[in-house]
Amino acid sequence: MNSIAVTADGIGEAGASSPEAGLDIHDHSDVKDYETVGEPFVEDPKMSARNVNVYYADKQAIMDVSLDIGKNEVIAMIGPSGCGKSTFLRTLNRMNDIIPICRVEGNINLEDQDIYRGDQDTVLLRARVGMVFQKPNPFPKSIYENVAYGPRIHGLAHSKAELDEIVEKSLRRASLFDEVKDALDKPGTGLSGGQQQRLCIARAIAVSPEVILMDEPCSALDPIATARIEELIDELKERYTIAIVTHSMQQAEVGDTKEVFTMPKHELTENYITGRFG
Ligand SMILES: Nc1ncnc2c1ncn2[C@@H]1O[C@H](COP(=O)(O)OP(=O)(O)OP(=O)(O)O)[C@@H](O)[C@H]1O
Ligand SMILES: [Mg+2]
Repeated sequence: MNSIAVTADGIGEAGASSPEAGLDIHDHSDVKDYETVGEPFVEDPKMSARNVNVYYADKQAIMDVSLDIGKNEVIAMIGPSGCGKSTFLRTLNRMNDIIPICRVEGNINLEDQDIYRGDQDTVLLRARVGMVFQKPNPFPKSIYENVAYGPRIHGLAHSKAELDEIVEKSLRRASLFDEVKDALDKPGTGLSGGQQQRLCIARAIAVSPEVILMDEPCSALDPIATARIEELIDELKERYTIAIVTHSMQQAEVGDTKEVFTMPKHELTENYITGRFG
């Protein structure tokens, strides 16, 4: 298994800045080329993006991104606010489809299937490529129902006992079961923030996805809850392919950490790392 980190390659025109972070990256005029740090291509990728451009109306948010996500690899994307990290992540399971002004060009394949082909079932796609959002968003239903919902609509269980088993297994994998096993009928929204995020992870893995997309999954959490989710991601990567957007260098889990930290090829990354973490 392999982990790499990349900056948002080619994701240019980062107009937005992140004043609260106090980074020295507000003016990108000094950065000639956006460059990927880490190896963007792998043999036999789980997903591959080629020459992806994304537009919101006539504003281009992503420019010519080509990138592979290897099987059972964690790929971590870092970069300044507004550079297109969430946009790119959403192209991987067509969540951008629900934004009417959003247009995606280029090719994105899941194994050898073009996920943007006309007859792609997006509900099925999003079961294969699940997503965990920045802010935990449990359904206003019980803990049990939050996890059972996906397996039920996808017909993954043939009996109540089977469904119970999937729910328990998913909650265990999300490292939440012991805390909620006596409260499965209580609302998911009544859990703490960190528990809610683990519930959302359980919900995502309940349909046995092949890829999990995570968009800053810890940014709404306190340090203890963050540490638990980080541990969990570490465990999940044994089984799933994960693409994560993060501001945390720990979560970036860089394959060859030294190279990226000490010899950033990419000025923007260097500024980012030194500005934020130096
Ligand atoms: N729904 C939308 N409608 C219009 N423009 C959008 C929309 N979502 C994103 N954009 C624009 O696309 C660009 C990339 O935004 P995106 O949210 O992907 O950035 P990001 O790298 O995830 O930023 P952050 O770190 O702040 O989450 C920004 O200029 C943003 O304003
Ligand atoms: Mg974002």
